[in-house]
Amino acid sequence: MKNIEIKLINSKLTHNIRSQVLWPHKKLKDCILSDDNLKTTFHLGVFLKSDIVSIGTFIKEKNNIFNNIDNQYRLRAMATSKNHQGKSMGQILINFAIKYLREKKIKLIWCDARKIAITFYKKSGFKTHGEYYIIPKIGLHKLMYIYL
Ligand SMILES: CC(C)(COP(=O)(O)OP(=O)(O)OC[C@H]1O[C@@H](n2cnc3c(N)ncnc32)[C@H](O)[C@@H]1OP(=O)(O)O)[C@@H](O)C(=O)NCCC(=O)NCCS
Repeated sequence: MKNIEIKLINSKLTHNIRSQVLWPHKKLKDCILSDDNLKTTFHLGVFLKSDIVSIGTFIKEKNNIFNNIDNQYRLRAMATSKNHQGKSMGQILINFAIKYLREKKIKLIWCDARKIAITFYKKSGFKTHGEYYIIPKIGLHKLMYIYL
Protein backbone atom coordinates (compact mmCIF):
# COMPACT_ATOMS: atom_id res chain seq x y z
CA MET A 1 0.00 0.00 0.00
CA LYS A 2 1.19 3.54 -0.78
CA ASN A 3 3.09 5.43 1.95
CA ILE A 4 2.99 2.46 4.32
CA GLU A 5 6.16 0.88 5.66
CA ILE A 6 6.74 -1.76 8.29
CA LYS A 7 10.02 -1.84 10.17
CA LEU A 8 11.87 -3.32 13.12
CA ILE A 9 12.06 -0.49 15.63
CA ASN A 10 13.69 0.43 18.91
CA SER A 11 11.45 -0.13 21.93
CA LYS A 12 11.46 3.61 22.72
CA LEU A 13 9.40 4.25 19.60
CA THR A 14 6.58 2.18 21.08
CA HIS A 15 6.18 4.27 24.24
CA ASN A 16 3.80 6.96 22.95
CA ILE A 17 1.26 4.56 21.49
CA ARG A 18 1.59 2.21 24.47
CA SER A 19 0.80 5.10 26.77
CA GLN A 20 -2.02 6.64 24.73
CA VAL A 21 -3.78 3.47 23.60
CA LEU A 22 -2.91 0.63 25.97
CA TRP A 23 -1.98 1.96 29.36
CA PRO A 24 -3.47 5.45 29.89
CA HIS A 25 -3.19 4.85 33.66
CA LYS A 26 0.62 4.74 33.42
CA LYS A 27 3.16 7.51 33.01
CA LEU A 28 5.09 7.52 29.74
CA LYS A 29 8.31 6.52 31.53
CA ASP A 30 6.54 3.43 32.90
CA CYS A 31 5.41 2.19 29.49
CA ILE A 32 8.19 -0.36 29.33
CA LEU A 33 8.21 -4.14 29.54
CA SER A 34 10.94 -5.95 31.47
CA ASP A 35 11.78 -7.98 28.34
CA ASP A 36 11.84 -5.02 25.93
CA ASN A 37 15.60 -5.03 25.47
CA LEU A 38 16.38 -8.73 25.45
CA LYS A 39 18.42 -9.83 22.44
CA THR A 40 15.62 -12.16 21.36
CA THR A 41 12.88 -9.49 21.64
CA PHE A 42 11.92 -7.39 18.63
CA HIS A 43 9.48 -4.57 18.05
CA LEU A 44 7.56 -3.83 14.86
CA GLY A 45 6.20 -0.49 13.79
CA VAL A 46 3.87 0.36 10.91
CA PHE A 47 4.57 3.81 9.49
CA LEU A 48 2.11 5.86 7.49
CA LYS A 49 3.79 8.77 5.70
CA SER A 50 6.65 8.39 8.23
CA ASP A 51 4.35 8.59 11.30
CA ILE A 52 4.30 5.51 13.50
CA VAL A 53 0.71 4.27 13.69
CA SER A 54 0.80 0.65 14.87
CA ILE A 55 3.14 -1.27 17.16
CA GLY A 56 3.72 -4.78 18.49
CA THR A 57 6.39 -6.38 20.67
CA PHE A 58 7.49 -9.99 20.17
CA ILE A 59 9.17 -11.80 23.06
CA LYS A 60 10.71 -15.27 22.99
CA GLU A 61 8.68 -16.82 25.80
CA LYS A 62 7.29 -20.31 26.17
CA ASN A 63 3.74 -20.79 27.40
CA ASN A 64 3.58 -24.22 29.03
CA ILE A 65 0.02 -24.73 27.85
CA PHE A 66 1.69 -25.45 24.51
CA ASN A 67 4.43 -27.53 26.12
CA ASN A 68 5.05 -29.71 23.07
CA ILE A 69 6.24 -26.64 21.12
CA ASP A 70 9.72 -25.31 21.91
CA ASN A 71 10.02 -22.35 19.57
CA GLN A 72 7.35 -19.92 20.74
CA TYR A 73 7.01 -16.14 20.71
CA ARG A 74 4.67 -14.05 22.78
CA LEU A 75 3.03 -10.97 21.29
CA ARG A 76 2.66 -8.09 23.74
CA ALA A 77 1.60 -4.44 23.64
CA MET A 78 -0.11 -4.62 20.25
CA ALA A 79 -1.85 -1.34 19.47
CA THR A 80 -2.83 1.05 16.69
CA SER A 81 -3.05 4.78 17.35
CA LYS A 82 -6.66 5.90 17.85
CA ASN A 83 -6.88 7.90 14.61
CA HIS A 84 -5.73 4.97 12.52
CA GLN A 85 -7.67 2.05 13.96
CA GLY A 86 -9.77 0.07 11.52
CA LYS A 87 -7.50 0.89 8.55
CA SER A 88 -5.70 -2.49 8.38
CA MET A 89 -2.54 -1.19 10.09
CA GLY A 90 -2.68 -3.85 12.80
CA GLN A 91 -3.35 -6.60 10.31
CA ILE A 92 -0.34 -5.51 8.21
CA LEU A 93 1.80 -5.77 11.35
CA ILE A 94 0.54 -9.24 12.30
CA ASN A 95 0.93 -10.56 8.75
CA PHE A 96 4.51 -9.30 8.65
CA ALA A 97 5.28 -10.87 12.04
CA ILE A 98 3.86 -14.25 10.99
CA LYS A 99 6.05 -14.32 7.88
CA TYR A 100 9.12 -13.05 9.76
CA LEU A 101 8.79 -15.61 12.56
CA ARG A 102 8.08 -18.47 10.16
CA GLU A 103 11.37 -17.67 8.44
CA LYS A 104 13.05 -17.95 11.86
CA LYS A 105 11.49 -21.41 12.31
CA ILE A 106 9.26 -20.25 15.16
CA LYS A 107 6.28 -22.58 15.48
CA LEU A 108 3.76 -20.64 17.56
CA ILE A 109 2.76 -17.09 18.57
CA TRP A 110 0.58 -16.60 21.63
CA CYS A 111 -0.83 -13.58 23.44
CA ASP A 112 -3.14 -12.49 26.25
CA ALA A 113 -5.84 -10.94 24.08
CA ARG A 114 -8.07 -8.23 25.47
CA LYS A 115 -11.73 -9.12 25.02
CA ILE A 116 -12.26 -6.24 22.58
CA ALA A 117 -9.35 -7.41 20.42
CA ILE A 118 -10.37 -11.05 20.05
CA THR A 119 -12.14 -10.53 16.71
CA PHE A 120 -9.10 -8.68 15.41
CA TYR A 121 -6.78 -11.60 16.24
CA LYS A 122 -9.26 -14.13 14.87
CA LYS A 123 -9.24 -12.29 11.54
CA SER A 124 -5.47 -12.89 11.42
CA GLY A 125 -5.88 -16.61 12.07
CA PHE A 126 -5.43 -16.77 15.84
CA LYS A 127 -7.57 -19.15 17.90
CA THR A 128 -8.76 -18.84 21.49
CA HIS A 129 -7.85 -21.24 24.29
CA GLY A 130 -9.85 -21.68 27.49
CA GLU A 131 -11.93 -19.21 29.46
CA TYR A 132 -11.70 -15.49 30.15
CA TYR A 133 -9.42 -14.28 32.93
CA ILE A 134 -8.97 -10.82 34.41
CA ILE A 135 -5.76 -8.83 34.20
CA PRO A 136 -5.95 -6.17 36.92
CA LYS A 137 -6.59 -2.57 35.77
CA ILE A 138 -7.18 -3.76 32.19
CA GLY A 139 -9.99 -6.31 32.20
CA LEU A 140 -11.05 -9.55 30.56
CA HIS A 141 -8.59 -11.46 28.42
CA LYS A 142 -8.40 -14.79 26.63
CA LEU A 143 -5.32 -16.76 25.67
CA MET A 144 -4.96 -16.73 21.88
CA TYR A 145 -2.45 -18.50 19.65
CA ILE A 146 -1.52 -19.28 16.09
CA TYR A 147 0.55 -22.20 14.82
CA LEU A 148 3.02 -21.06 12.16
C1 LIG B 1 -7.01 -4.19 18.41
C2 LIG B 1 -6.19 -3.26 17.51
C3 LIG B 1 -4.70 -3.53 17.76
C4 LIG B 1 -6.53 -3.59 16.06
O1 LIG B 1 -5.72 -2.81 15.21
P1 LIG B 1 -6.33 -2.06 13.93
O2 LIG B 1 -5.19 -1.50 13.18
O3 LIG B 1 -7.41 -1.15 14.40
O4 LIG B 1 -7.00 -3.31 13.18
P2 LIG B 1 -7.18 -3.55 11.60
O5 LIG B 1 -7.76 -2.31 11.00
O6 LIG B 1 -5.93 -4.09 11.01
O7 LIG B 1 -8.30 -4.68 11.63
C5 LIG B 1 -8.21 -5.92 10.97
C6 LIG B 1 -9.58 -6.57 11.03
O8 LIG B 1 -9.97 -6.75 12.40
C7 LIG B 1 -11.18 -6.04 12.67
N1 LIG B 1 -11.06 -5.40 13.98
C8 LIG B 1 -10.05 -4.62 14.42
N2 LIG B 1 -10.29 -4.22 15.69
C9 LIG B 1 -11.46 -4.76 16.03
C10 LIG B 1 -12.26 -4.70 17.20
N3 LIG B 1 -11.85 -4.03 18.29
N4 LIG B 1 -13.45 -5.37 17.22
C11 LIG B 1 -13.85 -6.06 16.14
N5 LIG B 1 -13.13 -6.15 14.98
C12 LIG B 1 -11.97 -5.51 14.94
C13 LIG B 1 -11.28 -4.98 11.58
O9 LIG B 1 -12.61 -4.60 11.36
C14 LIG B 1 -10.68 -5.71 10.40
O10 LIG B 1 -11.63 -6.58 9.86
P3 LIG B 1 -11.83 -6.75 8.25
O11 LIG B 1 -10.51 -7.29 7.74
O12 LIG B 1 -12.96 -7.70 8.13
O13 LIG B 1 -12.10 -5.37 7.75
C15 LIG B 1 -6.52 -1.76 17.75
O14 LIG B 1 -7.88 -1.54 17.53
C16 LIG B 1 -6.15 -1.25 19.13
O15 LIG B 1 -5.04 -0.76 19.33
N6 LIG B 1 -7.07 -1.37 20.09
C17 LIG B 1 -6.85 -0.85 21.46
C18 LIG B 1 -5.70 -1.56 22.16
C19 LIG B 1 -5.90 -3.05 22.21
O16 LIG B 1 -6.94 -3.54 22.61
N7 LIG B 1 -4.84 -3.78 21.81
C20 LIG B 1 -4.85 -5.23 21.84
C21 LIG B 1 -4.30 -5.66 23.14
S1 LIG B 1 -4.44 -7.42 23.32
